[in-house]
Amino acid sequence: MTFTPSSALTPGAQRGTRAFIERPALMLRAEDVRKTFTLHGQGGIGIEALAGLSLDVARGECIVLVGPSGAGKSTFLRCLYGNYLASGGSIAIRDEGAPLEHLEVTGAAPHDILRLRRNVVGYVSQFLRVIPRVSALDIVAAPLVSRGVEEDEARERAQTLLARLNVPRRLWPLAPATFSGGEQQRVNIARGLIAQHRVLLLDEPTASLDAENREVVASLIGEARERGAAIVGVFHDEDTRVRVATRVLELTAPRAQTPLTAAA
Ligand SMILES: Nc1ncnc2c1ncn2[C@@H]1O[C@H](COP(=O)(O)OP(=O)(O)OP(=O)(O)O)[C@@H](O)[C@H]1O
Ligand SMILES: [Mg+2]
Repeated sequence: MTFTPSSALTPGAQRGTRAFIERPALMLRAEDVRKTFTLHGQGGIGIEALAGLSLDVARGECIVLVGPSGAGKSTFLRCLYGNYLASGGSIAIRDEGAPLEHLEVTGAAPHDILRLRRNVVGYVSQFLRVIPRVSALDIVAAPLVSRGVEEDEARERAQTLLARLNVPRRLWPLAPATFSGGEQQRVNIARGLIAQHRVLLLDEPTASLDAENREVVASLIGEARERGAAIVGVFHDEDTRVRVATRVLELTAPRAQTPLTAAA
């Protein structure tokens, strides 16, 4: 066994916690996460979107974020995924084999974030990012292929998931640009769930779906939990929230923005 001197640890791990060693079920820890947007083009006004949010998520949990529009739910998920850099606080996600078994997302190197997204964290946004000329089947299979799964097997698993989500077979070879909102959303969900990530971030994945397909998504979320996934999600409808949540975290509306200093 090699000894890792503490000076060799990444800055995140140095300031990090031993909780991921001591609590094997812990998958994600957010501590006092803050986010302020500075609108440089508009007099440098600061918008406080998150005023300090803390959350532990263990394997098999599904935390549902609730709160009024603008409360910072999407911002929080984007900070967890590393899309937005938090302005303060810490976000740690289990990263097996890393020093102290976790990666500190805030301040992590881009290649570490990309590795974490490939192997650990999946994210489903409300809208599919359509890639021109790439078929729905290949869009869904891509996360498996990027992990080294054979293309045939990846496509087969993509077909199973698309069928489960009632995406008509005739659409599978087509690029989703012309699909309806609900069809695109189901392709997006299939892409987000296919790799069976151990941490899943879901931002209103059912907003454009009918009741039958919402039910399919709720079942898929339940199966992910049974596999031990740790899930944080936002769901616009109460039925889905009740169906999937193991815990609800309420975000309050953010405080007022910082005043404009420029002459009005
Ligand atoms: N990229 C950005 N630049 C500037 N301000 C932003 C940005 N993203 C979000 N905000 C602001 O942060 C606040 C929180 O937005 P966010 O999208 O996180 O809310 P939400 O809780 O997801 O709302 P909704 O329920 O409507 O989706 C809002 O005031 C929003 O205007
Ligand atoms: Mg939102």
